[in-house]
Amino acid sequence: MSIFQLLYTSKAQQGLAKSDLDAILRTAQHNNAKTDVTGFLIFDGAHFIQLLEGQRSHVETVYRLIESDRRHYSVEPLLQDVKPARSLSNWAMAYTRLDREGRRQSGGSMDMSNAREIASLLKQNATPMRLIISDFLTSAFAKNT
Ligand SMILES: Cc1cc2nc3c(=O)[nH]c(=O)nc-3n(C[C@H](O)[C@H](O)[C@H](O)COP(=O)(O)O)c2cc1C
Repeated sequence: MSIFQLLYTSKAQQGLAKSDLDAILRTAQHNNAKTDVTGFLIFDGAHFIQLLEGQRSHVETVYRLIESDRRHYSVEPLLQDVKPARSLSNWAMAYTRLDREGRRQSGGSMDMSNAREIASLLKQNATPMRLIISDFLTSAFAKNT
């Protein structure tokens, strides 16, 4: 079965607390496990980047919920793709918190090699926004390897 991937970026609501993030992650991991949606969530203190992958109908359903979530705004899809397999198979939702300089903080569970693949995919169909995200991902991971 082919896998539908959706990558989006958004801006975190001001004053988002660590407890809000914990709640988002708990919900994501719990719900996504039920529908076999996987991916990653990156948070740099102000922006989110999230990759969702799985059966198309499941990804679209959860994306609609995410889009209308008041804990963030300016939700913009960056990339949609159909692939023969998942980029990140083992996590309901891998999570990485970057500090202000874009360095990964400890405690994340993200596989960096897959993020590089996403970065190069974004470059192939480049738009200005995609290039920014691609560079962001590449530099964040380069600092951690
Ligand atoms: C940045 C961000 C990422 C989210 N990611 C997911 C996700 O991957 N899966 C999910 O079910 N909900 C996610 N949510 C939460 C949804 O917007 C929504 O609150 C949730 O799906 C409702 O589930 P519930 O009815 O079980 O509480 C996310 C929210 C935010 C702000």
